[in-house]
Amino acid sequence: MIALAGFTQSAVNPAGPQSAHIYHLWHLYLWICVAVWVLVIAFLIAGLTRRRPQPQTPDTKLRRSVITATAITIGILFFMLVASIQTGNALATRSFTKPVSIEITGHQWWWEVHYQFSQPDQEVVTANEIHIPVGRAVILKATSQDVIHSVWIPNLDGKIDAIPEHVNTIWLRADKPGIYRGQCAEFCGMQHAHMAMLVFAEPEPKFERWLADQRSGARSSAGAVVMRGRQIFENAPCVLCHTIRGTGAAGTTGPDLTHLASRTTLAAGTMPNTPGNLAGWITDSQRIKPGNNMPPINVPSEDLQPLLSFLESLR
Ligand code: CUA
Repeated sequence: MIALAGFTQSAVNPAGPQSAHIYHLWHLYLWICVAVWVLVIAFLIAGLTRRRPQPQTPDTKLRRSVITATAITIGILFFMLVASIQTGNALATRSFTKPVSIEITGHQWWWEVHYQFSQPDQEVVTANEIHIPVGRAVILKATSQDVIHSVWIPNLDGKIDAIPEHVNTIWLRADKPGIYRGQCAEFCGMQHAHMAMLVFAEPEPKFERWLADQRSGARSSAGAVVMRGRQIFENAPCVLCHTIRGTGAAGTTGPDLTHLASRTTLAAGTMPNTPGNLAGWITDSQRIKPGNNMPPINVPSEDLQPLLSFLESLR
């Protein structure tokens, strides 16, 4: 599989307040554990190398040492417990207005993304790639259509389980613009490893432009080849599983393709969105991602190019 460039995926490079809380806790744990390890090894080496004491060490001295070491251990564990609870409280604290509300639904093996607004005509549905405004809070509501998945965007927040018939909610905020890769963090079947997402944190005006673009229906160009491609698409089994708003395709089993060409990757972050990769995916997705729910599509060779032209025009 081709490596994708330009994104970061790291829990030790926080880009927002939530991941920073987790990062600080991780740092605290790291240095406490390092100190404990160094002390234990130092005592071990001292014990191994010093000259043997008298055959019978007085019982009281040994007992005092064991009690002291136990007390120190309990003290350290208690301190770590308190630090962990404080971090949990900080993560749960909500102090923001006008958040962006996004419902993210796990599927084997891709993410359905639904931007929620009070007016239905403002809502946006997309897949695998999330755009968020820098500096504004985002409420993520995670659920699943099939098995248990887990949403994890380490630069922005901790993990959240995506459970069928249940909604788990977290909030996050990106304070630095960037592309943050997220990953399903709960084993969910054969292609669990190929269930990624990209989060594009961008300045508010750019985000609003993206949102407005996504709200519109399909805007393919009107060339003859593209129109032919659209006809091929509408007569193919594609329409049973995919939606392209503005065409007859209204399936909901697979990702919404209305603005497919505006996405940078295919198959949940598996490969770059190029005509060659898209052709490979349509004709034999099972070779790229074995076990996925899309059957091989038997496209006559003369139809493939117009079909690709149509799909790649869906900006
Ligand atoms: Cu979805 Cu692992």
